[in-house]
Amino acid sequence: MNTDFADVPIAKVKDYWNERPCNIRHSTAEVGTREYFDQVEARKYFVEPHIPGFAEFEKWRGKRVLEIGCGIGTDTINFARAGAQVTAVDLSAKSLELAKKRVEVFGFTDRVEFFEANAENLSEFVEPRQYDLIYSFGVIHHSPQPEKIIDQIKTNFAGPETVLKLMVYYRYSWKVLWILLTSGRGRFWRLDEMIAENSEAQTGCPVTYSYNRKSLRELVGTAFEIDNMFVDHIFPYRIPDYVKYRYVKVWYFRLLPDFLFRFFERRCGWHLCMTAKCTQD
Ligand SMILES: C[S@@+](CC[C@H](N)C(=O)[O-])C[C@H]1O[C@@H](n2cnc3c(N)ncnc32)[C@H](O)[C@@H]1O
Repeated sequence: MNTDFADVPIAKVKDYWNERPCNIRHSTAEVGTREYFDQVEARKYFVEPHIPGFAEFEKWRGKRVLEIGCGIGTDTINFARAGAQVTAVDLSAKSLELAKKRVEVFGFTDRVEFFEANAENLSEFVEPRQYDLIYSFGVIHHSPQPEKIIDQIKTNFAGPETVLKLMVYYRYSWKVLWILLTSGRGRFWRLDEMIAENSEAQTGCPVTYSYNRKSLRELVGTAFEIDNMFVDHIFPYRIPDYVKYRYVKVWYFRLLPDFLFRFFERRCGWHLCMTAKCTQD
């Protein structure tokens, strides 16, 4: 059972992501330059190679995409590059600053509109309309009341043609076991706190829920028919090397043949990815 983070003030979540926007240290180049953004993207899709296949960027050419929690805009720019018209929102002004710079640098300002918004009350910030794709990668589990975001999506932004793609953290993952056995020192009764504390590159994330297939299905409810749900992503690298931009696997993953690693990743990965179609009129 997940600890309830519902009462965590949204300001605390905002401060955390403003202090260190997601993936901001994925490059050593000067922040805000083309080289910086190229390196951020290369590193993100090297470490999380399932993202392009999940997002299916090319499929949304000429379509309207709503991205909830765009961070510094790595997926945003790829939707725009592929020819989508994107509405991108995030709670963190610092992240949005970089995401905006990114679309300027790559010349896509006419394709992306940004909003600083708490997605739990999205319709107060973004005019309700129907989108072709609603995409949110690694976001709603960081919001105190994710069910409010789903409610916003259903009520104000989805119609019969809308596809919803969500990634949330997977409860039965290697990462959760690793947290329990390392920083958690076996204290399973404090597991949710420990997951939140250690889920991100920077410790101390105020809200991180984790889901299994059933609880994700329950979260999206009957307004969406699930097409596909899969688990992926184990981070296999040694942190001291990784922070120096070297990719050296920890010894036990070095011993695993690639096909076994993939087998394990598809069962115990950290990312639970879901694609669903809206069933409501
Ligand atoms: C782990 S980052 C993921 C960013 C991006 N999707 C990516 O994959 O790089 C989580 C993002 O969710 C945003 N976020 C968390 N709660 C939110 C909320 N209630 N409304 C809007 N954005 C939120 C944070 O500001 C942060 O940028």
